[in-house]
Amino acid sequence: MSARAEWLGRERELAGMIPRGFEVGVATSAFQIEGATREGGRGPSVWDVFTHENGRILDGSTADVATDHYSRFADDVALMRELGVDSYRFSIAWPRIQPRGRGQLSQDGLAFYDRLLDALLVAGVSPMATLYHWDTPAALAGWLDRDTAYRFADYAFSLGEVFGDRIDSWVTINEPATVTLNGYALGLHAPGSTLLFDALPAAHHQLLGHGLAVDALRSAGVRGRVGITNVHSPVEPAGDREDDAAYAALFDHVHNRLFADPVLLGRYPEPPEPFQGLFASLREADRDDAATIAQPLDFYGLNYYFPSRIAAGPGDGSSPDGHASAMSSLPFHLAPWPELGRTGFGWPIAPGFLAVALRELAERYGTALPPVVITESGASFVETADGGDGARVDDGARIDYLADHLSAALAATGPGRAAEGVDLRGFFVWSLLDNFEWAAGYTQKFGLVGVDPRTRDRTPKASYHWLQTVLGDRER
Ligand code: NOJ
Repeated sequence: MSARAEWLGRERELAGMIPRGFEVGVATSAFQIEGATREGGRGPSVWDVFTHENGRILDGSTADVATDHYSRFADDVALMRELGVDSYRFSIAWPRIQPRGRGQLSQDGLAFYDRLLDALLVAGVSPMATLYHWDTPAALAGWLDRDTAYRFADYAFSLGEVFGDRIDSWVTINEPATVTLNGYALGLHAPGSTLLFDALPAAHHQLLGHGLAVDALRSAGVRGRVGITNVHSPVEPAGDREDDAAYAALFDHVHNRLFADPVLLGRYPEPPEPFQGLFASLREADRDDAATIAQPLDFYGLNYYFPSRIAAGPGDGSSPDGHASAMSSLPFHLAPWPELGRTGFGWPIAPGFLAVALRELAERYGTALPPVVITESGASFVETADGGDGARVDDGARIDYLADHLSAALAATGPGRAAEGVDLRGFFVWSLLDNFEWAAGYTQKFGLVGVDPRTRDRTPKASYHWLQTVLGDRER
């Protein structure tokens, strides 16, 4: 990894760009950090099942222990307090609250989040809770089944009743696009289905679940802001051929618009020519749900990692997670960006495209777009020192990544700037800790803080200390 760290010594410059009241936070998710998968009566999730199947996870690992956050949450909150962040985005594990996805709430499960919220409150860190970050209770039929949307709304209502006075921001669903594409279409994520376009009902039922959950949270009287998190990847055709442009439009449609348009505009977008046939069932069946899905939101969560370059013709099916996937049966593939640097995943490093993503939001959704919060941005690298021995990881490349992305977002959204029309309110770094990176297991590290794989001891990296300086240099 090249550690340029061009931003070292320029902390004040970046701090000066951060407006007063702008929320800077760190993000995690339950399955990726908690471990303790059988404690407190927690039921299995589809990800527990998936990680225990042969060959699903690159390094053969599971998240049974993960970072052991379940027992070390107080240390992790102390790390956040020391870091000086305003907010913490975490997720609540549905199978801890309802081990079988329905019915009575687990008191042990609630007690864990109760302790976490208390610790955050004492530390002065504002909680943003995601209700669903991919750990569907295994006892449910999953997102192909419409009933899961109603079960999700019941769960949301119960959490709203219990924690409604203490959570400042609620995210209903995290990245429904990734669940649909990786989980149901390509088989890279749980539940591992390879349905390609037949996976679309999973998209619709998550969107319906989102709308029902917004309504449920509000009926429960929560006082916090309510939103959703979608991942956006601006798309460009890889070449001048007509086919490249057509497939780029198709990819933009299935990855970006299909999940944003129903939420913000109350309708599915018109599929690009000549692909209408692929989406017919979805649009026919679901017109009646449009109003439920398009609940007014207090904020729109944007996850941005990289732009996508699409070329016509099947690829070799290799995914950024290093797995062969059903993608090889598609008539297009993700092409490399020769001129850009890359993260450990091979993802192109392109902060300018975060500004493009924000501009696209402004252009496509106009006044229908609520305030935007960047709910995730970050980079993984294959890092050698793991921290526990006291060797601090000198992750200059992560410092550059974060500084370039935060400054690009802030520069794009000021008055008269490229993405005018976007009211950007916050930026959350993915992630506080090195953690279980789904199909890539523990091979890709996103943390500001390293976690020793053996002892689970935490050691802040150079990027943690750098961000601490930036946050301390802000005008208050
Ligand atoms: C987005 C997901 O929400 C998060 O769980 C994941 O770890 C990051 N992307 C990095 O892949």
